[in-house]
Amino acid sequence: MMSFGDDKIVRKSPEEIEKMRRSGQLVRQVLNHVKALVVPGASTMDLEKAAEKLIAELGATPAFKGYYDYPCVLCTSINEEIVHGIPSEKRVLKTGDIVSVDCGVVLDGYYGDAAITVPVGETLTEELRKLLEVTEASLYKGIEQVKIGNTIGHVGSAIQKHVEANGFSVVREFVGHGIGTKLHEAPQIPNFGKKGQGVELTEGMVLAIEPMVNSGGPEAKVLGDKWTAVTLDGSYSAHFEHCVAVTKQGPMILTQ
Ligand code: MF3
Ligand code: CO
Repeated sequence: MMSFGDDKIVRKSPEEIEKMRRSGQLVRQVLNHVKALVVPGASTMDLEKAAEKLIAELGATPAFKGYYDYPCVLCTSINEEIVHGIPSEKRVLKTGDIVSVDCGVVLDGYYGDAAITVPVGETLTEELRKLLEVTEASLYKGIEQVKIGNTIGHVGSAIQKHVEANGFSVVREFVGHGIGTKLHEAPQIPNFGKKGQGVELTEGMVLAIEPMVNSGGPEAKVLGDKWTAVTLDGSYSAHFEHCVAVTKQGPMILTQ
């Protein structure tokens, strides 16, 4: 968001990465809890309330609520919504929907941020099953490229290739980001690009990688609520996110 991409990249010590692993694990706990509540008839506000309660019980602070005046602890984005959908009791999930749940927390001064996209009910069309599978797999293709000496472009290129080879498209308007003592730090991490482009990955960088993949065209627009991003053509969109540290041993997923 805005101009964080031009800030200085802040590398983390092993002790800091350990703290980020704790906030990352907490985010995963919240996502697992919310995932079990994704059933037909539940509203996205039900998910929000459960997440807010659990974050407080775990002794953490929500990262999104109040960030540029965002009103909730989760982003819940249904079907053609790409990211930043605002939970509401009016948004009731139904069989065959897909819902992206994105959550961030701060614990001991360090941020964690992760997202999953979950099918609602037992029956999903083959197209949507494939959209979820390809989007999640593209995230892991990106993570595989998180190695000292590679660049941000290696990550984006691997994601884009996997997505496009499967007939889907990657959103350009929203990107991943560095993360640490702030939710959004440099560098920006596009889900597209070419190997060798962008800054080089060095030990201690922590990256929030978050492919947003549309079943139709890549274009997005933001609704009148100033937050909810949707596909321009009304096609479906999926979103998965992990925070990953660059280490000598390779990628270390912190939101496991
Ligand atoms: N994971 C999303 C991101 O990194 C969520 C941000 S929502 C906001 O952009 F409200 F905090 F902006
Ligand atoms: Co993020």
